[in-house]
Amino acid sequence: MRTKAAIERAMEELRARYEADAPHQHFVTDHHSIVWGDGDPCARLMFVGEAPGADEDRQGVPFVGRAGQLLNKMIAAMGLSREQVYIANVLKTRPPDNATPTSEEIRLCAPYLYEQIRIVSPQVVVTLGLPATRALLGTMESMSRLRGRWATFTPPGPESTPVKVMPTYHPAFLLRSYTPENRRLVWSDLQQVMAELGLDQGVRPKVGEGEA
Ligand code: URA
Repeated sequence: MRTKAAIERAMEELRARYEADAPHQHFVTDHHSIVWGDGDPCARLMFVGEAPGADEDRQGVPFVGRAGQLLNKMIAAMGLSREQVYIANVLKTRPPDNATPTSEEIRLCAPYLYEQIRIVSPQVVVTLGLPATRALLGTMESMSRLRGRWATFTPPGPESTPVKVMPTYHPAFLLRSYTPENRRLVWSDLQQVMAELGLDQGVRPKVGEGEA
């Protein structure tokens, strides 16, 4: 029986294992803190991003910078709060100049993300952007082909169950390409997730509505 205490303990043990293994010692980083994860480790919905940026490195919490503010709005638009979901990244340490993670960096760090997913065992994982999507689905397809289509990821390890994955655009991409079309696409991806989770689809502000 999976109790909240057991899940929290498993997550703490995994974090300690990550810190002992320190896979990031094998590549160049620009980090001051390990940005492990945030939110409810018993959540039904998990978001996976790429890697911490400067703000996240400073605070030790994922998605707290500009992209994080937009992610918060996306979560709120779904009728949820940040405390009700779990948020993690593929890389737990900040890459220099916010570089896109290399395939070797992903290979070294992804096993810890897979284990995070196995522990949370959410109903749905939303992957934000290509590195996160590729880390889970192992595909070389483009984001425009992957987004909006359900996929499945089964974390390696005992007693793991398949998790539904919805790839969507990274909020940082959305901030750079803040077009009505991109916002509509992300919102339609999130609406599919809401339907899967049985969340109320009632009238809510669309992602980023009312912003400049
Ligand atoms: N972008 C990410 O992918 N993750 C963060 O935590 C912040 C920005």
